[in-house]
Parts: sequence; C-alpha cells; structure tokens
Amino acid sequence: KIYPVILSGGAGTRLWPLSRAVLPKQLLPLVTDRTMLQETALRVKDWPELMAPLVVCGNDHRFMVAEQMREAGITPLGILLEPAGRNTAPAVAAAANYLKAIDPQAVMLVLPADHVIKDAKAFATAVSRAANTVRDGALATFGIVPTAPETGYGYIRRGASVSGADDCYKVERFVEKPDRETAEGFVADGDYYWNSGMFLFRAETYLAELGQFRPEIASAAEAAVRLGYRDLDFCRLDEAAFAGSPSDSIDYAVMERTAHAVVVPADIGWSDVGSWSALWEVQQRDADGNVQRGDVYLDGVSNSLVRAESRIVAVVGVSDLVVVETPDAVLVAHKDQVQRVKQVVDHLKSKE
Ligand code: GDD
Ligand code: MG
Repeated sequence: KIYPVILSGGAGTRLWPLSRAVLPKQLLPLVTDRTMLQETALRVKDWPELMAPLVVCGNDHRFMVAEQMREAGITPLGILLEPAGRNTAPAVAAAANYLKAIDPQAVMLVLPADHVIKDAKAFATAVSRAANTVRDGALATFGIVPTAPETGYGYIRRGASVSGADDCYKVERFVEKPDRETAEGFVADGDYYWNSGMFLFRAETYLAELGQFRPEIASAAEAAVRLGYRDLDFCRLDEAAFAGSPSDSIDYAVMERTAHAVVVPADIGWSDVGSWSALWEVQQRDADGNVQRGDVYLDGVSNSLVRAESRIVAVVGVSDLVVVETPDAVLVAHKDQVQRVKQVVDHLKSKE
C-alpha cells in the first residue's frame, strides 16, 4: 500500500509579504481558490492504490491544517506535529516510523505541499512506474526536464535503465543546489533532470539509508514517534527527542549519498511556486501578460503581477513589476529580482 506523506512545514519566505511564519505559502490560496495544501491532498485523493494522506506540519499550524483538510473533504490518516522545524530529513523519518508501526510494508509517497502539477494523470502514471522499483529497495525520485540553470533545485544525472521497470533509470549522480556555473553545465549536458522534491520508497528503506548516513537523525525521529502521543486528531512528536535531531534536508542527508536512487522522468506540468516570478509564470495571464488578483486597477501595465489584499492598488505605465499589497506591508519589486525578497525577510527578522 502507498501512503501519501504531505510535507507542510516550510516558511515560504520568498513570497513575503503574503507568506508569513504564521501563515506560510502552503496554507494560502496562491494559484487557485484552494490552498496549496488542499490542492496537494486533493491531487492524490481517490487513487485506487493510495491510502489517506499523512500530513506533517509544525505544531503552530495544526488547527489551520486540520480545518483545511476538513474543508476539502479529506480525512487524513493522521497529522504529525513537529514541536520545532528540523527540515525534511527528520520530518520524513518521523512519518516513516509512524507508518511502519501501522504497516511494516508501507510505501511512502513524499509530497511537498507547495507544488503545482498541471497534469495529474501523467503524475499518477509516473507514480505507478516508480512503484515497480521500490519493492527492491529503491528510492525513487521524479525527474523534471530542466528549462533553466536554477540553483535552488537538486540535479539528477540518469544512468542505466532499471530492468523490469518501464522508463526508470538508476541515478548516477545527485547534486543538491549546485552553483550557477555547475547548473549551467548540467542543463547543457542534457542527461540531467531537476529533482522535483517528491519521492517514493518503502518506509523501511528510507530508515535504513538514513540510519547509515545520519544515525543521529534516525534515532531522534524514532524516539520522537515512540515517545510521542495522540492529542485529538493529532500525533504530537516528543519535543525533547525531536529537538535533539540535527536539521537537514532529505536531499543532503540521503539522496546525495544513497546508491539506491532511481529517477522516473515525469512530464507532468510541474512547478515549484517558490517565488513571485514563478507564481506569475504558472498562472493564467491576460492579454497584456498581467496576473491580477483583488481590487486592482491597471493602465499601461504589462508582464506584471499585482495583488491587492485589503486596499485598492492602482498601477500605471510600468512593466515587469511585482506589486503585492497586504494590510501591514507592501512589496514593489522588479520581476527579475524577486529572489532578493528573502533578504528583505532576513533584514526584518534582524530588527525584531
Ligand atoms: N513538515 C515539514 N517540516 N515540512 C518541511 C520542513 C520541515 O521542517 N521544511 C521544509 N518542509 C516542506 C516545505 O514546505 C516544502 O513543501 C518541502 O518540504 C520542501 O522543502 P523546501 O524548503 O521547499 O525545499 P527546497 O525547495 O529548497 O528544495 C527541495 O525541493 C526542490 C524542488 O522544489 C529539494 O528536494 C530540491 O532537490 C528540489 O529540486
Ligand atoms: Mg521548495
């Protein structure tokens, strides 16, 4: 059986001022009228081979996550609460321990809560293909053909075909977040994919690999689940045990090191809505190339994203801008410079 595990713990700082610590991007309706978390859960609802999802999120977000699941008509298998964020390697390890106790053969489909996937059917097909490899202890990733030398992604070089599995390849190399020059080389090479950040493996396989590469994370997550307790619909991870885990991502902790990774090419209309420009790109644009939301007035504006949350926003005679208004903060940025929003957040944090 395959259990979707939805990771809903990131902060989404590059989508400031809309995305905040109290209300991060995955809990917001950014692309459609549903939140990113709801879209993620609905995408894997009612697949015959899939169980109800396990959501892993920060303790502070528990009521919002539970309410959003209810609103979307989804009854999760459980909601695992992290007392503090320790990045994805421990979060996935906690989920693996939780699932293993329910089903020793559990296969996990790890899903970030903040992706857009336009072709859900092609995605389902890719998951079925990957499922053929995981019984033998593979860790499957879903590879996206890169369109630019992005430095915020992992890169996967595909190797030989996996025998007995259609269109699945051994991972020859996994490089998480390379520098610009290296990324340019990978894109030019043609044999590299972007790591989509979604994974399929047996809970047992992941825990064995993690135990080998990062035993401190594996044992902290194991203890956090063993000592954790149920509270209403939630499962609270033990605070002291989980806080004792080092912070690391699944990509650095396991995927870069394992010898058992497999890549399944996935042409699924994927995008990581990591920045305002990415959000502009995935959305329906009007004839002038603008994306607008809320009470917005535009005159002579092109290729811009303008979003009003609480007031009227008028924009005149400019192009390639991002304008985002919220009750207590406004962002105006050139669309090509929106990666620098992260520094704005760092600056504001340092003043706190
Ligand atoms: N529960 C939980 N706890 N979730 C978390 C935590 C945590 O501590 N930290 C991050 N997440 C969630 C985020 O909300 C997101 O949905 C997902 O895990 C991935 O984390 P990101 O922080 O967004 O990772 P990234 O974008 O830098 O890199 C990953 O995704 C890329 C594709 O989008 C890597 O897997 C890259 O290799 C990949 O290319
Ligand atoms: Mg991301």
